[in-house]
Amino acid sequence: MWTLARDTEVLDLNSSYAYLLWCRDFAATSVIAEVGDEPAGFVTGYLRPEAPDTLMIWQVAVSAQFRGQRLAGTMLDELVRRTGATRMETTITDDNAASHRLFTGLADRHGADWRRAALFTPEHYPDGHDTEYLYEIAPLRTAAA
Ligand SMILES: CC(C)(COP(=O)(O)OP(=O)(O)OC[C@H]1O[C@@H](n2cnc3c(N)ncnc32)[C@H](O)[C@@H]1OP(=O)(O)O)[C@@H](O)C(=O)NCCC(=O)NCCS
Repeated sequence: MWTLARDTEVLDLNSSYAYLLWCRDFAATSVIAEVGDEPAGFVTGYLRPEAPDTLMIWQVAVSAQFRGQRLAGTMLDELVRRTGATRMETTITDDNAASHRLFTGLADRHGADWRRAALFTPEHYPDGHDTEYLYEIAPLRTAAA
């Protein structure tokens, strides 16, 4: 996951330790896609402690050679299925058209509404990070619905 994230050249790269710790504690709400024996993409997510029906998606990465095959959308749908979450959240920067399309596409598939609002603006960061817009997508169709 660290390697996949690094190779996107756009994601914030966390420490390798952070990914290992993440997989130890949040495997049930995260997924890795393999093509053949090769890791081709991953999604990290968690259920919000104060709103456990909400699946917060942190990072999505698909290896450049496997993009455009709905791998990212399939991983997100799989996590919705596994968790039974009825709401999804993620944050996206203004320059990430692929990510915007990925999440609004998921909303379309679920017949869900989506809205976005600035969550963290540059003054919140110590390092001049771009504004992260919070996307809220609901209601999701769960397997039981
Ligand atoms: C964003 C990313 C995960 C998409 O992976 P993917 O497997 O190619 O995505 P999908 O094939 O499931 O496509 C999802 C949607 O995004 C659209 N899309 C994909 N790449 C796009 C691009 N460069 N520009 C605009 N739309 C794009 C697809 O057309 C599709 O929309 P549709 O349903 O309307 O056809 C991948 O491009 C990536 O890893 N990017 C670098 C890391 C990143 O930006 N991650 C997201 C932030 S957490």
